[in-house]
Order: sequence, then structure tokens, then C-alpha cells
Amino acid sequence: MKTKLSLVVLTVLLLTACGSKTAPTPAGTLPPIATNAPSTALAPVPADTSPAALSGNVDVAIAGFAFDPATLTIKVGTTVTWTNQDTAVHNVKADDNSWGSNDLNKGDTFSFTFNQAGTYTYRCGFHANMKGTITVVP
Ligand code: CU
Repeated sequence: MKTKLSLVVLTVLLLTACGSKTAPTPAGTLPPIATNAPSTALAPVPADTSPAALSGNVDVAIAGFAFDPATLTIKVGTTVTWTNQDTAVHNVKADDNSWGSNDLNKGDTFSFTFNQAGTYTYRCGFHANMKGTITVVP
């Protein structure tokens, strides 16, 4: 009976010793838990439905009374060059009139460099159905 009691006491002492080992420092001095890095690394990458942003020099054809491609995603600093391939005269006009071309005859080009992120909608001043959108990303 006495041996059994000693064993119980010893076990409790050992458990206490082990318990104190796992909490050696006061809560206030515990090192900060890096919650950001691991969670970001483990978080699933959100589905990117946007097209890859083009950079450098990008060409847009004006052909068949349409801009081709009509929608573009580019990086800041990208220069877009429109070329009129139609015999009809076209132009390129920002919807807010902040930028645009002169009238473009067949073979004429117009270039514009987008230095600020944002969404730019434009049109042909002669043909209301000719529309384009350029999304500029950082
Ligand atoms: Cu036009």
C-alpha cells in the first residue's frame, strides 16, 4: 500500500515536472506567433480569372469596323499602338476625352503609353459601335 502511494506521488511529480517544462515563460514574454507567413503560404491561391497583363509594346488592329483585340490588360508603362487597316477613316478617342488620336486613314497608326493604373474605355469617334477597354494594372 505504501509503495503504491509512493508511485502515485512520483507519477504526479513527474507529470508536474513535465507540465512546467512546456510553459517555461510567462505569457507576456512568449515570442509572437507568426500567423501571417504560414497562413499565407498555406492559403489556396485565389483563382485568377483575369488574363495575363501584357507589357512593352502592344498592337491593336482597327479592322472591319472593330478594335482587335477590343479588350486588353496591360501593365503600367505599356505602349499601345493602333493601326487602321480599314479603308474607312477611324480614330481612337477616350470616352472621357483625356487622350485620343487624330483621324486615321488606312495604314495610319496611333500610339499611347498608359502610365497610370486604371480602366480606360475608348471608342471610335465616327462609329459608336466601335468600342474598346484597356485595363492597366500595376
Ligand atoms: Cu471607326
